[in-house]
Amino acid sequence: MRRFLLSSLFFVCTVLLTACGDDDGGQGSATPTPGPIATPTVNLGFCDGALPSVEARIDDLLPRMTLAEKVAQMHGSGLTDGLWETSGSEALAIPKLRMTDGPRGVGVLTGVSTAFPVAMARGATWNPALEERVGEAIGKEVAAKGGNVLLAPTINILRHPRWGRAQETYSEDPLHMGDMGVAFVRGAQRHVVANAKHYAANSIEDVRFSVDVSVDQRTLREIYLPHFRRVVQEANVGSVMSAYNLVNGLYCAENGPLLGEILKGEWGFLGFVESDWVLGTRSTVASAIAGLDIEMPGPIFYGDPLVAAVENGDVPESVIDDAVRAILRVTFCFGLDENSPTPDPEIVAGTAHAALALDVARQAVVLLENRNGALPLRRDRIESIAVIGALADTPNIGDTGSSNVNPPHIVTPLQGLQNHAGSVLVHSVAKDILTTADEATIADADAAIVVVGLTADDEGENTVGAGDRITMDLSDEHQQLIKSVAGLQARTIVVLEGGSAITMQGWQSEVAAILMAWYPGQEGGNAIAEVLYGDVNPAGHLPITFPKAESDLPEFINDSNAVTYGYYHGYRYLDRAGTEPLYPFGHGLSYTTFEYSNLQLSTNTIKDDGAVGVSVDVTNTGPIAGTDVAQLYVGYDGSRVDRAILDLKTFARVSLEPGQTKTVRMALRANDLAFYDVESAAWVVEPISYSVQVGPSSRNLPLRATLRVSGASNP
Ligand code: BGC
Repeated sequence: MRRFLLSSLFFVCTVLLTACGDDDGGQGSATPTPGPIATPTVNLGFCDGALPSVEARIDDLLPRMTLAEKVAQMHGSGLTDGLWETSGSEALAIPKLRMTDGPRGVGVLTGVSTAFPVAMARGATWNPALEERVGEAIGKEVAAKGGNVLLAPTINILRHPRWGRAQETYSEDPLHMGDMGVAFVRGAQRHVVANAKHYAANSIEDVRFSVDVSVDQRTLREIYLPHFRRVVQEANVGSVMSAYNLVNGLYCAENGPLLGEILKGEWGFLGFVESDWVLGTRSTVASAIAGLDIEMPGPIFYGDPLVAAVENGDVPESVIDDAVRAILRVTFCFGLDENSPTPDPEIVAGTAHAALALDVARQAVVLLENRNGALPLRRDRIESIAVIGALADTPNIGDTGSSNVNPPHIVTPLQGLQNHAGSVLVHSVAKDILTTADEATIADADAAIVVVGLTADDEGENTVGAGDRITMDLSDEHQQLIKSVAGLQARTIVVLEGGSAITMQGWQSEVAAILMAWYPGQEGGNAIAEVLYGDVNPAGHLPITFPKAESDLPEFINDSNAVTYGYYHGYRYLDRAGTEPLYPFGHGLSYTTFEYSNLQLSTNTIKDDGAVGVSVDVTNTGPIAGTDVAQLYVGYDGSRVDRAILDLKTFARVSLEPGQTKTVRMALRANDLAFYDVESAAWVVEPISYSVQVGPSSRNLPLRATLRVSGASNP
């Protein structure tokens, strides 16, 4: 009986993985409990059972449309009130699609909106429940501004930290990316249609318009596509944006294998595909036949040339019908014709979303290093601090490209430290070059906080200048600043801002503590201060590897039009090379300590279509409440193909009072263990032994158990 109950619970966990894992409902221990997510307003996934009636409606409408009317639905028609529009049709009662970016808040073209921490910061929360609320908030703001399509999430794998748009995505890992992307889409689609971008293998900026990414089928299926598949199949994403680049010789917008065969064929995607802007479409006939439904932002290759291509027989009219059907399906299933959005300035950038942005920024901070208890800076033990660096008092919320957001205010780290100072005297030395007087102030203070890192001048979308990073190091000026301060003040704390990993040779060992704050959004300074003063116990974990040196990573080539993506990057690459990272994937410290024990599998052998429940006890062994992220990785014993040493398979946040132990339950399906067999073009679960390893980072996995799979199949 007990075994039955256990396996039932594990079954439920398999289905509701996040809910079971995330014991604190998505909240860090030091943050107030928010209200429940609002009742769905729009999201009907793909019609929630009403699909047949929608299809019937389209069957009735399509034959009544002229070719020109149909093609008119298949391209953008410019920008109105900051929203990119298609033309719709008043006569046919087809509403316009009205689109806006983006991944960290509603795009700057629409005016003021809430600026959330960038997606990479949100990836560091390892908190899909919280991400769902962010998706919901951004979706709500889009609708309140009159939009109905949100050009987010970006779910491109961070293959290399120098990618200029690293900040827009969540992760170097497909499982973690999928969990976050699915959550965002679910939240956003309560209000608008989400758009998963950029499909696919888009992770170099400087040559994004021209690079041909060669990638073998196994790498594509296992590393670059799984999260796209999940937002389609688990979150019913309504639209997908094709990337600028080529994959295996074909531009993504005319890539039949990616669009027609995989996305619409194998995965059963029912929404529409739109191109990335301007250079995202390169042809008329090839794009239409491959399955590109909408050219954005205006008709260069679609419009008249597409009408002509149908008339002269180069494009069958059935191709046009399929595209228009996809567009109308989304329009009707999401009720865009009924729920025409009403602009509502009350919702946009209001206090509720500011509170959410603050909560996310708190949970996103990753404490990388904390020597001799340098942090927290307890107000009862500290009289004064010096806050150093130009970035300490510079609004710094990320890229100024398409993901740019214009918030009502931005709290800088200095302002945050002043807001939360209490009795602590805060000396501002918000500059990068120190005078003798500054040096004396720093030496006399009880602690020095140096804020350094990257800005939109160092990394971002290449249309606005920055593009890919030229180095993973900090600027010479910032490195010098850290070293100077560390020479004056033993308690030197470095706060880093930026969109991805930073190398730290030459200064990392000289400072007392290091905190990664990312681009923390409009409330970031308050969150950083709360963590530094100990009002919030940090719980962020790295969603990417921080290597010791760039040479520890695969080469980043951003000046060639031909690049090959191999199977390995990030933690898998370092694991395989036996290279020690500076801070591993999954790493994040707390002001308390945790112990992992008692790893149990509900069974040691599963069938190739079965599942196993995994439980582990996590104990808070330190003095204060805190939250950790239990991570489950799998290794392979005797696989017939080359496999990673370890792959992340699931994770769960756990919040604990001092001394408290909780049993964290996770689940693993045999399907999660599959590899993509190129020869049979199918996923295969091998009947071998798998080592299940659990702990708080990819390089700290104290618990291990063996799982066997019996039989073999194609899931
Ligand atoms: C970007 C997209 C963005 C689009 C519209 C493109 O340059 O790559 O991510 O959604 O512009 O702003």
